[in-house]
Parts: sequence; C-alpha cells; structure tokens
Amino acid sequence: MKVLVTSALPYANGPMHLGHVRSTYIPADIYVRFLRSRNVDVKYVCGTDEHGTPIVIRAEEEGKTPLEIANRYHDIIEKELRDLGISFDNFSQTSRDLHHDLTQHFYKRIQKNGYIYEKKVMQLFCQKCGRFLPDRYVVGICSYCGAEARGDHCEACGRHLNARELRNPRCVVCGSVPVQKETTHYFFKLSAFSKQLSTYLKTAEISQNAKNYASRWLSELEDWDITRDMQWGVGIPNTDKVFYVWFDAPIGYISFTKEITDDWRDYWSGRVVHFIGKDIIYHHVLFWPAMLIAEGEFPPPAVVQAGGFLTLEGEKMSTSRNHVVWIRDYLNHFPPDYLRFYLVSAASIDQDIDFSWRSFADKINTELIGNYGNFINRVLTFCKNHFDGTLPAPTTFDSRDLALINKIGDAHSRVTKLMEKFDFLGAIRELMRLSKFGNEYFQSKEPWKGGGENVVYLSVNLARSLAVLLEPFIPFSSKEILKQIKTTGGWETAGELFLKPGHKIGNIHPVFRKIEESEVEAEIKKLKEASSSHRTPSRTGASTPTAKTPSKILQKKKMIGLDDFEKLDLRVAEILSVEPHPNADKLYVMEIDLGGEKRQIVAGLRKYYKPEELRGKRIVVIANLKPAKLRGVESNGMLLAAEKDGKLALLTIDKPIENGAVVG
Ligand code: MSP
Ligand code: ZN
Repeated sequence: MKVLVTSALPYANGPMHLGHVRSTYIPADIYVRFLRSRNVDVKYVCGTDEHGTPIVIRAEEEGKTPLEIANRYHDIIEKELRDLGISFDNFSQTSRDLHHDLTQHFYKRIQKNGYIYEKKVMQLFCQKCGRFLPDRYVVGICSYCGAEARGDHCEACGRHLNARELRNPRCVVCGSVPVQKETTHYFFKLSAFSKQLSTYLKTAEISQNAKNYASRWLSELEDWDITRDMQWGVGIPNTDKVFYVWFDAPIGYISFTKEITDDWRDYWSGRVVHFIGKDIIYHHVLFWPAMLIAEGEFPPPAVVQAGGFLTLEGEKMSTSRNHVVWIRDYLNHFPPDYLRFYLVSAASIDQDIDFSWRSFADKINTELIGNYGNFINRVLTFCKNHFDGTLPAPTTFDSRDLALINKIGDAHSRVTKLMEKFDFLGAIRELMRLSKFGNEYFQSKEPWKGGGENVVYLSVNLARSLAVLLEPFIPFSSKEILKQIKTTGGWETAGELFLKPGHKIGNIHPVFRKIEESEVEAEIKKLKEASSSHRTPSRTGASTPTAKTPSKILQKKKMIGLDDFEKLDLRVAEILSVEPHPNADKLYVMEIDLGGEKRQIVAGLRKYYKPEELRGKRIVVIANLKPAKLRGVESNGMLLAAEKDGKLALLTIDKPIENGAVVG
C-alpha cells in the first residue's frame, strides 16, 4: 500500500522557529523515516503556503512583489528544515502553475457537484486605497475582548474574526476608516457535510485532541466564504477574485504529490497521513475532508495527527516580541539531533510543552549522552581495544546474555507498535530503557576482567539495533554510529543479532558532545536581551496603524487638499512623565501638557528613548485623534515621529513657544 505523508505548509512570510518544527515537521519526519526503514512505499510532501494577505502586506512594506517574498522564504524555510534533517521528497510552492491548475480543477468539480453558491456580501472597502480590505488588511478593536486585532483573528482572545466585527476598523496600508461595500462571494456548503464528517471523525485515525475539538463544531458548521477580493492568490475562474488561502493551501498536498510522481492518484487513494499543529485542526478535520468528499475523486485523509503547542521558557512564543528561538539560531549552536530528541522525548506530541534551555541541556546530557552515548562509546571502545575491532564468536550464553537477546527482540516489536500508533514518546522511552539495560548488562558482566566474547558480541549488536531504531529520531547520529560500526540500517533487522562474528567495525570516536552550563546561560541571556529590545515598534501613537516604508507611502497616498490637512489639530506639547506600559514592553505611557490641559498618551518609543531622554522634550501631537486603548491603556492623541530603516526620531520644537501652540 502506498503511503503519503504531509506536514502543514508553512506560510512563506518568515523563518521557522522551534514551535513549527515541534508539532509539524519533526513528528512527520520521524514517521516517514520509520516507514522508509521498513521499506514502505512512502512519499513525504510539503511546501510553502504562499497566498494570503500577510505576504502581500509584507511585500508592500518592502517594495517587493508577493512572489519575491514567497520565493525568498521558500528557500530559507526549505534550507532550515532540511538542515534539521526533515527529509521531504518534495518541498514545493503554492504559487506554481501546477498548483493553480489543480485548485481550479478542484473548484470546478466541487461546483459541478453542487456545493458552491454565490451570495452578495458586505465587505470593508478602503476608499483611499481603492480596494477591499480582506483579512489582515484591516486592524481594529476586537469586539469580544477589546484588544487590538487583525481583520481575521484576535491574538489576545484567540477568536477567528470577520473583519466587520472589528470596532474602529482602519486600513492597514493608509490608516483611513473603511466603508462597507457590496461584493459577490462564493461559498462552500460546509453545512451539508455534518453527517459525513461525523462518520469520518468516528472512523478515521485522528488524534484524540483533534477529535475532541472537531466534534464540538459538528452541529454548528457554517458555510465557508472562499472568496477574497484581491489579486494575489489562485484566481477564481471567470472572476477578478481569488480563492481564500485556506481553500487552495490543502490542495497543495495533492499538487505537490502530482509534481513528483505519475502515480500521484495511487498515493491519494492509499493511506494519507497529515501532520499539523493544533491551531489548524478545524481546517484539516472538517473543511478539508469536506472539500475532498465534495470533489469526489479522493477519499478523505486516513490520518490526521495534531501536535500540541510549544511555549518558550514558560511564556507564549511571540515573534513580534522576539520571544522566540529561530531554527537558524539554534542550528548555529547545537546539532539538529539534540533538538529532535528533546522535542519528542519531553512529552507526547499531542501535548503542549515548554521549551527551556535548562531542561533541554539536562535531557541531552543525562539521557541522550549519559545513557545512550555512553553505551555506544564504551561498547565500541572496548571492542576496539580488546578485540581489535572484530566481533568475537560468542561462547555459551548465560542467563544474562539470553535476557539481553530477548530484550532486543521484545523492544523491537514494542517500538514498532508504538511507532505505528504515532506514540513517539513511548518509542523513545522504550529505546532509552533498552540502552540503560545495555549499560547495566555491560557493567554487571565486567568484561574487562577477562572473557568478554559474549558481552562484546551482544553489545555491539545491541548498539547497532539501537542506532537503527533511533534513526527516525536522531538520523545524523545514527548514520554516524552505523558508519563507525560499518553496517547498514533496516528496521526489520534490528530485532535480531544482525552482525556476525568476525565483523570488523570501523574507526570510532565519540558522536555526542555535552552541552556546557555556559552555553545554557548564554542562550538564556540572549533570549532576555532579544525580547527586551525587540523589533521596531512602528506605531508611535493611538489608533492609526503601522507606518510603512516612506517610498511606498509616497507612491500610495493620494493628493489631498488643504481642507484635508486642516482636519488635523496639531499642537505643541511637553512631555511631563514617562512610565513603562504595564502590559506591553514596546510602549510608554506618558503624560503631556498641551497648555492648560494634561493628557495621557501611549507611544511605542521604548526601544528608542530612555524615559529621562523624553521628559521635558517638546513635541508635536495630533490632539484631535479619537481616544483609543493600547493594550488596555487609554491614549488621547498621537505624537509625531519620523521612521526609517529601524531608526526613529521625534518631531521637536526648535525655539521656545507655549505648550498648546497650533502647528500648521
Ligand atoms: N499555512 C498554514 C498551514 C496550511 S496547511 C494546508 C499555517 N502555517 S504556519 O506557518 O503558521 O504554521 C506551520 C505549522 O506550524 C502549523 O502546523 C502550525 O500549527 C505549527 N505551529 C506554529 N506555531 C506553533 C507553536 N508555537 N507550537 C507548535 N506548533 C506551531 O498554519
Ligand atoms: Zn487604505
């Protein structure tokens, strides 16, 4: 039977961090390597998810095309994942023609089968930019929790939002207030599938966390708006619109298979196994199977495994606060296998886990190196020093020898079963127990006192079995150990005494190096420094959105009349006090004097100015900007500042003049 394994397609708008690989890429790779080692006919496909608004917005900010951004991150991400040992058979891109064609083919069939309908909807439209504002093109206040949110999602309360649910919506590009405008959208009749999806959830091999989550939604499935009024994406046939990124992205699993093999239909009617993180369960266990059923050519996926989320040193990871460990940074300092080992052995994959540098170092030093590395090292060294690197013929086995032989066979079959059930934690624990048993066996047999043929013969065989069975988890080290033993892999041979007397091992040297305390301290320090001086806070005031690269703004902003400018009430103000914002480490809460009126404003200046540099400064503020809450603190106005390339300078007053003086 053919098996097709996939990992969720990473968005091509930033590099990979530890969280991504923990839920989605490492578990899939472990499973694929296990299957390959068993000679299963498997393909592992993935690629970057290149449509959607974040990539377009990023491109606009950088003055590049979306495709340039997508290509850049495609290459970066592929290199990072491959350096981590993730062994894709194909790592493609959703911007490719083949993918676009297949998406349209899918759509046409779903439509023909009666599961698409048209509906007129109201959407936010920016009159200044002359375009609709789908998803992340709009920011505003979440109507559920009051935090700042993007058009499709509120990070603070985790809700999926419709842009029209935002209070005080603003266009991300120009900051103006959008209007509502009618447009025709295409909807996928998800609600028609509740029965089939209910059966699917019962019969498919879906991780328990995903089953629980998805069953709650079964009774309230809503039809899905698969349309976006924008240019970048897969075009909807006969319209000037594109598909919502979540409509085309999962089809990538199929198009990326089609790209590498003529047998793609066979893989897709075989066993399909999806690895994802738990935040995208809805899309994979409800939306995607329904799409497949509606399309009618392929069965819904046999397996969906949803990985838990990773936090970092006890806190939610945040790329905007720079509280994150990037894969490239990690790889610059530590071997890929250490991360693979740690992330899998810290908890079962469906559980959330916390990554802490200290527990990482402890686990690697005590388990991987103290137990396994130590066993490999002492056994191969002993074989080299006392038997000239040649496996001796065993004598009669005693009960301890026989116990070891049994253990190898038992562990092999138990680990096989655990791997088949995706219980990678169980498997790695079993293997660590086997290695520990090997150490105890070696120790108790005291081969250095003479004899030792059985110990060496059996222990080198055990070393080989461990290296073979651990290969899916720590492929680089296993490859090296198998090379030192001068042998090959092959899952099915790992339960037996594969190496025969007379086998000569190769050159040996320790495979692992300990993690030093100083390295742990350095990493913790780096993290603290990075998150206290995180990235550019482009917002310098109240509720207008991010300032963009000036050149782009010059191109974008329309000409205005004096009457537009006169809407602004610009005033001279003096900064009286400056306090750190209680919930946002980019922001200050400042008191300013507008001449006869004191006000509080919130500004993102923390990266650029110390409080004492600001106190007493005389600045320019927009005094008639509607009050807004920034991370829970009210801001009554916005100061003006210039920004370019990560530098920021305040507009100040060059001669004494009263506070409150009008700027115009
Ligand atoms: N592009 C979508 C997936 C489309 S699949 C047809 C996407 N991309 S992503 O780049 O945001 O995430 C890639 C994978 O990383 C997803 O499986 C996601 O669940 C996972 N994770 C992202 N952050 C994570 C953590 N902090 N912890 C664990 N997994 C995380 O979603
Ligand atoms: Zn706009």
